[in-house]
Amino acid sequence: NTMAPPRLTVIGTGYLGATHAICMAVLGFEVLGVDVDEGKIAKLASGEVPFFEPGLPELLAKALESGRLRFTTSLAEAGAFGDVHFVCVGTPQQPGSDACDLSYVDAAVRGLAPHLDRRTLVVGKSTVPVGTAAGLTTLLHELAPAGTDVELAWNPEFLREGFAVDDTMRPDRLVFGVASDWADARLRAAFQPILDQGTPVIRTDLATAELVKVAANSFLATKISYINAMAEVCEAVGADVKDLADSLALDDRIGGKFLKPGLGFGGGCLPKDIRAFAHRAEELGVGQAVSFLREVDAINRRRRARTVDLVRELLGGRISGARIAAWGAAFKPNSDDIRDAPALDVARTMHGLGGHVRVYDPAALDNARLAFPELRYGESALDAARDADVVVLLTEWADFREIDPGALGEVVAHKRIVDGRHALDAAMWREAGWEYRALGRS
Ligand code: UGA
Repeated sequence: NTMAPPRLTVIGTGYLGATHAICMAVLGFEVLGVDVDEGKIAKLASGEVPFFEPGLPELLAKALESGRLRFTTSLAEAGAFGDVHFVCVGTPQQPGSDACDLSYVDAAVRGLAPHLDRRTLVVGKSTVPVGTAAGLTTLLHELAPAGTDVELAWNPEFLREGFAVDDTMRPDRLVFGVASDWADARLRAAFQPILDQGTPVIRTDLATAELVKVAANSFLATKISYINAMAEVCEAVGADVKDLADSLALDDRIGGKFLKPGLGFGGGCLPKDIRAFAHRAEELGVGQAVSFLREVDAINRRRRARTVDLVRELLGGRISGARIAAWGAAFKPNSDDIRDAPALDVARTMHGLGGHVRVYDPAALDNARLAFPELRYGESALDAARDADVVVLLTEWADFREIDPGALGEVVAHKRIVDGRHALDAAMWREAGWEYRALGRS
């Protein structure tokens, strides 16, 4: 019965999958979350979100209470339960290569397929190199007992960490990459409550749907590196990139979003997605079309090095032996994610140069400690800054922006601050007696 709401499974319960599963259950669907990681499944089933995401723990509690959300490690159970299966597993960068690692996607589809014995829809949500869905379609048809009755669709996900709930419940758009009207109808049924809000849908083929995701992330990364390239030019002539960015932002055609200069982008998505896209385009013989993404990546890396240079300049030429407070570890505020975090990259470089670096982050401290036990950590922003020769703001948490320069001045050894994110009011800090420096500003 295609009229009844489909029963959903979500395979892979990381940032993307857990959020999707929880939100879908809250929206009224019966949902089964699946993961190979028993620890993660046990946590979720007991009401604990295994990562930091504002608003999600409350929704998990609500979903569990409704009885509509359950968790399992069994793909057999998933196959028996689901009408629509969302594949949300990770596609990290392969070590030593720019390509992304498709082994989790492959394993999820190979593991699920033998349990698909009736007409079902498998929906890929993971970020993959264009062409992956075509290969997975063939694989499903070969391995599923229901054969070609099992269809594959692609539905890229655009959620941002820190805003995951809102982005899932009220997306800007939905992209349905489908091979048939039936698949389109099934996907519509699986998103009915969101479509009812008037959310625009683009129906397209599988390859276009795969491409939309990497094209979007590449555009965002390019926008950030564009303004950071302007910062480099500003530094050469003593111009001010903050005023430059503010001026560009007022042109509607440009807009101020993702035009914030600073330390640049990190995280589990943007850096690896632009590399994997460039790599895939080269494989397809159109590498030249996106070769600028290599430059986008290079500009982004140079910002990290330049931040270390600014700290060195402010310290009078030597990082070795200096006491340095590093504010921020997460790749962005409102997240505990430290994957390819610019903040920790800078902190580790300064540590490697002999600086006594003490890191503080409001949410990512435990993750940072686990990954980089060689660094020292503070219990609070002020604690990390005690007796510091320089404070370096690396992630623009509100906690740091709200700190009073007067109070901070009482605990540090020298009133010197590098604002890696243009998060502070430069005039206010200078008035309070601080030497203030920021990327792209004289
Ligand atoms: C990004 C995209 O924004 C999402 O649309 C996408 O779904 C997601 O990747 C994904 O592929 O899963 P996310 O990685 O959560 O989301 O973080 P963003 O908010 O995009 O920030 C990425 C990085 O860019 C952060 O390190 C941030 O500090 C930096 N950034 C952002 C800047 O340096 N300047 C800006 O103006 C904006």
